[in-house]
Amino acid sequence: MRADLPTPLDARERPTARRATAVAHPNIALIKYWGKRDEHLVLPRVDSLSMTLDVFPTTTSVRLAPEAGQDVVTLDGRAADGEALRRVVDFLDLVRARAGTTHRAVVDSENTVPTGAGLASSASGFAALAVAAAAAYGLGLDATALSRLARRGSGSASRSVFGGFALWHAGPPEPATAEEADLGSYAEPVPTGDLDPALVVAVVDAGPKPVSSRTAMRRTVDTSPLYEPWASSSKADLAEMRTALLAGDIEAVGQIAERNALGMHATMLAARPAVRYLAPATLTVLDSVLELRRDGVPAYATMDAGPNVKVLCRRADAARVAEAVQAAVPAGSVHIAGPGPGARLSGEGGR
Ligand code: DP6
Repeated sequence: MRADLPTPLDARERPTARRATAVAHPNIALIKYWGKRDEHLVLPRVDSLSMTLDVFPTTTSVRLAPEAGQDVVTLDGRAADGEALRRVVDFLDLVRARAGTTHRAVVDSENTVPTGAGLASSASGFAALAVAAAAAYGLGLDATALSRLARRGSGSASRSVFGGFALWHAGPPEPATAEEADLGSYAEPVPTGDLDPALVVAVVDAGPKPVSSRTAMRRTVDTSPLYEPWASSSKADLAEMRTALLAGDIEAVGQIAERNALGMHATMLAARPAVRYLAPATLTVLDSVLELRRDGVPAYATMDAGPNVKVLCRRADAARVAEAVQAAVPAGSVHIAGPGPGARLSGEGGR
């Protein structure tokens, strides 16, 4: 399944904007994406569901540079190199193939979230890059196609194309062609009932993670005896989550999200060798969340590929939750996030 998609016939005729800037926000999965079934097309093993945040945006501009011999990529004011540069260039190659051009680009991306700390900077980063590059190269894609494209940069980026809650479909398990596989895996907005949620983000360590989520995911799928049981229980979690979201039942949403995340970390702990992102400060925050619940405050934790914790609660309780979490980890930084907008070109409203 390594063949790329055919270039749309009319893409060559479409005028390119040549320069575009896009803004995207990170998302936090309540039902996790963990494990790929196709690394090249970035097809996940499981469906996932997330909330896009209204904090930590990434702003990315893409300018076509027909005279340049190579892409020039700046991340947070510094020239990108190594793996980070390779991922952006690979992504631009995909966009160029679809646009039917070989023009290089100058890419400038500013993150407001600590990069590599398990706070989904690759989600906002590749969602913003997808929207800006598609516009600069004149691909004329709708939101679903942008979500598929963003997925190729980083799986979780497919969800940041949309605001609020988004479900990323893994796609058909046995697609006949690469095209069918690609078309079937995209995110879309998820309806919710009367819910006024907040995610309190506790950054206990903003440093880069020891193992990339890409490597950790691969190792987990390949070696963890707990992976398959988690993946199948995640299907049931997703169905229950959709019902809980529609019912606006924050307790049920939180319980399902917390067990899904702890299960994902269990799969990693059982990998060989183990991948452990949870740090002592992570457990301290988890204790404070338990204490909040004992005090009658519905608060539930989720963690990604890093030691930081995101606590789901009612917006009305967010200040109290933030205070309790901050008291638990005085050296950490605590931020209150609500549901945020989808990725958009600068100057447009969010999706
Ligand atoms: C733990 O989207 O960063 O945050 O597709 O390899 O780029 P790649 O992985 P990435 O993985 C995110 C994993 C997660 C869970 C989630 O966001 O669903």
